[in-house]
Amino acid sequence: MTTEGEAHTRTIPDRIQPTPAGWESPELKGMLISASEIQSRVRELADQIQSQLPMDKPIVILPVLSGSFLFAADLVRHWRFACELDFIGLSSYGASTQPGLIDWTHKIKTDIKDKHVLVIDDILDTGQTLDEVKKELSKHHPTAIHTCVLLNKTLKTSGSTRFQADYTGFKIPDHFVVGYGLDFALKFRQLPFVGLLSPNCHGTDAD
Ligand code: IMP
Ligand code: MG
Repeated sequence: MTTEGEAHTRTIPDRIQPTPAGWESPELKGMLISASEIQSRVRELADQIQSQLPMDKPIVILPVLSGSFLFAADLVRHWRFACELDFIGLSSYGASTQPGLIDWTHKIKTDIKDKHVLVIDDILDTGQTLDEVKKELSKHHPTAIHTCVLLNKTLKTSGSTRFQADYTGFKIPDHFVVGYGLDFALKFRQLPFVGLLSPNCHGTDAD
């Protein structure tokens, strides 16, 4: 099934580009999505979301910390309508690059009753994070919960009934990626591009 968000996504092929000069690291295999590709897609997403969501009342924008901090910051810079901006926090990669148990690090504090909510996350992998977010936020009776992710790992999930985001920046192959907010053992979040982690990396604390 193709959702509205998927119909507008951009698919990234299984490619490796050289790591940009100055960012080389033995733990990085290369670059998957460049900084300029990200910036132009973020702009498109912001325009698309604002043209589709009702803007008569302020919408509550809720980035999921920590991984979405750069994506959300860039997205909201293109936001021309009234909004309330707060943060929620979940962590799922307690150990290494395999998803683990979900842990709320920052629960919602804002009143979202009868409001439209836009949840922003970095990447959709198994979907358990956004499933949990939607379940928790629903208890607060918003009018609707809309979801936006920068990345969606395609291959792992084709044919599955996994969570689908309403808005997706890029569909990517099933590799562990870092940069533009995404970390491995808290490293590489600051990269302005999305990079591929070397397969020989073993970590203890990525989320
Ligand atoms: P999900 O719950 O399996 O969908 O995973 C979502 C969360 O896991 C994301 O918000 C990320 O924090 C983290 N995650 C999933 N895949 C990756 C990856 O390739 N690199 C870094 N973090 C990831
Ligand atoms: Mg995350």
